[in-house]
Amino acid sequence: VEATDEWADEIRRLADLRDAVILAHNYQVPEIQDIAHHVGDSLALSRIAAGAEQSTIVFCGVHFMAETAKILSPDKTVLIPDEAAGCSLADSITAEQLAEWKSEHPDAVVVSYVNTTAAVKELTDICCTSSNAVDVVESIDPAREVLFLPDQFLGAHVRRKTRRDNVLVWAGECHVHAAINGDQLEDQARRHPGADLYVHPECGCATSALYLAEEGAVPADNVKILSTGGMVDAARASGASQVLVATEVGMIHQLRKAAPEIDFMPVNADASCPYMKMITPAALLRALVEGADEVHVDPATAAAARGSVERMIAIGN
Ligand code: 13P
Ligand code: SF4
Repeated sequence: VEATDEWADEIRRLADLRDAVILAHNYQVPEIQDIAHHVGDSLALSRIAAGAEQSTIVFCGVHFMAETAKILSPDKTVLIPDEAAGCSLADSITAEQLAEWKSEHPDAVVVSYVNTTAAVKELTDICCTSSNAVDVVESIDPAREVLFLPDQFLGAHVRRKTRRDNVLVWAGECHVHAAINGDQLEDQARRHPGADLYVHPECGCATSALYLAEEGAVPADNVKILSTGGMVDAARASGASQVLVATEVGMIHQLRKAAPEIDFMPVNADASCPYMKMITPAALLRALVEGADEVHVDPATAAAARGSVERMIAIGN
């Protein structure tokens, strides 16, 4: 199936017929981003899903995102074009592992990145995304210990920003972002002096980016640690002519649309998320034709997880 005009017409017709809104994450392939009703980062899409008027949400992203939409809107039908679209970061902690960690720190507040399963969210006090992780931790009494999971690089960023030593961080990672390392960033920064650096906090190079700024190798104002949605906002407001982008490569499409005059270059052009790329034009068409794959979350788990997701939606931007 090619993403032709006929395909686009058929997707729109079927979406209307099903009373469906199509949401796409910034890492989706360009054709999917372009057909979606809304494109955004994890937090923005959660907010849109929570407020959607349509009875069906088609989530073009990975499974935990569709699951989060279902937790927020249990009465809606939530479809994902391929339910096998998982996430290596969400897989880096199980509910059993979290239960054990909690038992070692019974008074701690549990902050989970939204990249987690519903069963992990059920054991969580507040969820966060990359765009509000710092705000979420700052909303907690500084005297309380925090268990932050599962991403070690985002966790390190949160510890640096909040200057809280009592934030304990799980050693999980996203294999795509962990592979964007400090050496690659330094090399690209040297080749493109003067370029801005947009760095997603899940990246292995997030700390290196800040060292480059501290050492004066890159002007401090040029280094920005941002969520994917934050990158789009920064691009719109930017006067830069070149920007090095450290995140999944799907991001470049939305950035070029937001600021066509800027030359956006990936720090690692191989950083492509195989799960995000499972959502193809053919898969989206099939989802709308068949009403599949439908996302189910056990109602008791959803009810127990909902509070942590609603707190995430309420905090920060
Ligand atoms: P954001 O879009 O919230 O920055 O998250 C990035 C990500 O890796 C989602 O899987
Ligand atoms: Fe998960 Fe990483 Fe893919 Fe995002 S890019 S969905 S964190 S595996």
